[in-house]
Amino acid sequence: MKKPSFAVACRLLISALILAPLCHISLAQAAPPSNAQLASPEINRKVEALLKKMTLEEKLGQLAQFSAGFATGPGASNQHWDDLVAKEQVGSFLNVVGADATNHYQHIAMEKSRLHIPLIFGLDVIHGDHTVFPIPLAVAASFDPKAAETVAHTGAVEARADGIPWVFSPMVDISRDARWGRIIESNGEDAYLSSAMARAWVRGYQQGDLSRPDSVAVSVKHFAAYGAALAGRDYNAVELSPITLRQVYLKPYQAAVAEGAATMMSSFNSINGVPATANPLIMTEILRKEWGFNGFVVSDWGAVAELINHSIGDGPTVARKALEAGVDMDMEGNLYGTAIAAQVRSGKVPESVVDEAVRRILRVKFVLGLFDHPYTEPGPAWEPTPERRALARQVAGETLVLLKNDPVEGVGKLLPFAGKTKSFALIGPLADDQRDMQGAWSQGNPQYVVTLRKALEERLGADHVLYAVGCGLLSGKDEVILNHASFGGSAAPSGSNQIPDDAKSIAEAVETAKKADVAVLALGESADWMEGEASSRVHLGFTGKQEDLLEAVAATGKPVILVVLAGRPLQIKWAGEHVPAILEAWSPGVEGGYAIADVLFGDVNPSGKLPASLPRAVGQEPLYYAQMPTGRPATGIDLSHIPTNSDEKFHSRYVDEENSALFPFGWGLSYTSFAYSTPEVSRQTIPAKEVMASGHSPVIKVGVDVRNTGSVAGTEVVQLYLRIPNVSVEQPVRELKGFTRVALAPGESKHVEFPLSFDELNFYNVDLKQVVEPTAYDVWVGGSSLATAHTTFQVVE
Ligand code: NOJ
Repeated sequence: MKKPSFAVACRLLISALILAPLCHISLAQAAPPSNAQLASPEINRKVEALLKKMTLEEKLGQLAQFSAGFATGPGASNQHWDDLVAKEQVGSFLNVVGADATNHYQHIAMEKSRLHIPLIFGLDVIHGDHTVFPIPLAVAASFDPKAAETVAHTGAVEARADGIPWVFSPMVDISRDARWGRIIESNGEDAYLSSAMARAWVRGYQQGDLSRPDSVAVSVKHFAAYGAALAGRDYNAVELSPITLRQVYLKPYQAAVAEGAATMMSSFNSINGVPATANPLIMTEILRKEWGFNGFVVSDWGAVAELINHSIGDGPTVARKALEAGVDMDMEGNLYGTAIAAQVRSGKVPESVVDEAVRRILRVKFVLGLFDHPYTEPGPAWEPTPERRALARQVAGETLVLLKNDPVEGVGKLLPFAGKTKSFALIGPLADDQRDMQGAWSQGNPQYVVTLRKALEERLGADHVLYAVGCGLLSGKDEVILNHASFGGSAAPSGSNQIPDDAKSIAEAVETAKKADVAVLALGESADWMEGEASSRVHLGFTGKQEDLLEAVAATGKPVILVVLAGRPLQIKWAGEHVPAILEAWSPGVEGGYAIADVLFGDVNPSGKLPASLPRAVGQEPLYYAQMPTGRPATGIDLSHIPTNSDEKFHSRYVDEENSALFPFGWGLSYTSFAYSTPEVSRQTIPAKEVMASGHSPVIKVGVDVRNTGSVAGTEVVQLYLRIPNVSVEQPVRELKGFTRVALAPGESKHVEFPLSFDELNFYNVDLKQVVEPTAYDVWVGGSSLATAHTTFQVVE
């Protein structure tokens, strides 16, 4: 029998994966947690042999990445790109997608160029490719690394079939400021959760083996600390203490590298005055020397050339600084291509620096198998298969966070809907909007998206769902419109984003609500305009007249359920105080409508937990639970209570708002309830030396019994928090150091154990060394960052 070609084998494998039984794709166990493949002697031999043959211009070509298109049809020409490829003046393209397009350029690279070096095609595959899963922030809300693996692996399979062996994902920037639009792509505010998720995304994409036909290389971004942009304004400078940088912000990138990440992307921001893209401390000392990273670093889009705006030199200077710092590939800037050759010839830049960057890029190309299998077998047109849709629904179901479900007088808890609820008013600009359900950074076709309206109508029959749009997402000269006017000059928002007469529409929605038993409001953000890159906001409430709509419908006295569809923690204070049931649904993806309906009707018991705190007021941002202590802590501040003496006034507090989040990190309710025993430790004392020597091996276990005290089955995300008091550097008031999802039948109890090692117990001292010092650790276990079940243990001399 004839052996199938590699491309056919890929297709077969992909089909097998598609037909795999419905379950999370878990390949974690198979993944060697290192990027050892990139250091293999065999690969290095091949790289060195090729490098010897390359001219300086060909080497610099490998460092160039361009965003190209692929034109087809009468009169279409790709001549410019064809020529560059033939002359080996480009090593990579981004945004060239599909077998036809990638094969076109790859054939030129492999057949018409002197050295036949394949191109590597990269793309932003952020939360699935054609099959759109919930946004990454939502996936983090699942507190389920396997969910992230599923999303990543499905994206990898789809990307590969499109000729893409390299994705610009995962984004693991710690995001503590809801004003920053890119929080949507992140895992939220916490270093421990983000690190666990970072590893899972890398596992899902790379599967510990970059040579597999269904693996893609990741680009972990944005290195480093992009999420700490001052004032939440995108691309802004970052100022972080060296301790916080290492102890919090660098952790997820380090975790991704430990998992074998093949590439990293440099960030746009400066860090303490040195732009990341020209930062030798970040790119070389820490990434390569400390963490042992063997892959390559690509700049973010134009970030090398933007160093000129950072004012650290002219074009040739910044190109040299970036390259010498350790940024190997120049994305869509071509400064390396134009400014490095002369400096090599004049002796200003050693050719060995160029060689090293080329080596790193070639290694990834070899390991991905691109030299042997450069082409992609053309396949059928994409549409999400039922199997993948089922995965998207399953993941989305885990990401929804029930923020509130207070009993209503005479009705009880509104959720899940009981059989007695007969007619539903479904109201809001996001109730029937396919595009916005997908969220930012989506390649998927909105026509496949199931909205909440469609899901409810299918479930209940159209007669039982009284729909009213209520208002637009924007109204009149909304502040967002003004800002957006300069964003590519695109036309007014489409669909339900804007409607002619909000007041009339709100009045109609009120009448609709009056006719129904309950009103479900779907409010939130526009995916295109308010979420993602360049979408920082200073107003975090509902845009347009959505708040008016909510309050008007609530004033009818009908029970209201609010479904929030947004890419960031919004400021929903009025709703938090007045609306009895609130479901945080994020941007839930292609199956979003079904997943929300599953939860509203109790087919799925919500288990998501907030990966980022929801503020009471924008002025609280950046808002996160792992705050440092203050000499004047404000405890139990309740603003209905006016401070009467200076003791209460001169504390670390706001005079016009509470300090606390409206809904804090880790928060999320269930349709059942859970009870925790007092946690127990496996030992009371541990010598500091033993902890220091333990590395990743546990030195102590914290155990707790968790019981389902309600009448339905449910899954609890059990969370463990630590505090390290009385040591040489002050530590946060508490920090997540363990979590696990536990499924419990009614009345069932399970014992959960959290192993703790040096990894969880250390902190950075003033010399930037990871240490443990003798002290009594506080431990809390529970279902949110407000966990109260407490114990302690001692680290002793
Ligand atoms: C800029 C974005 O910051 C980055 O996340 C993305 O991967 C690149 N553009 C490529 O599209």
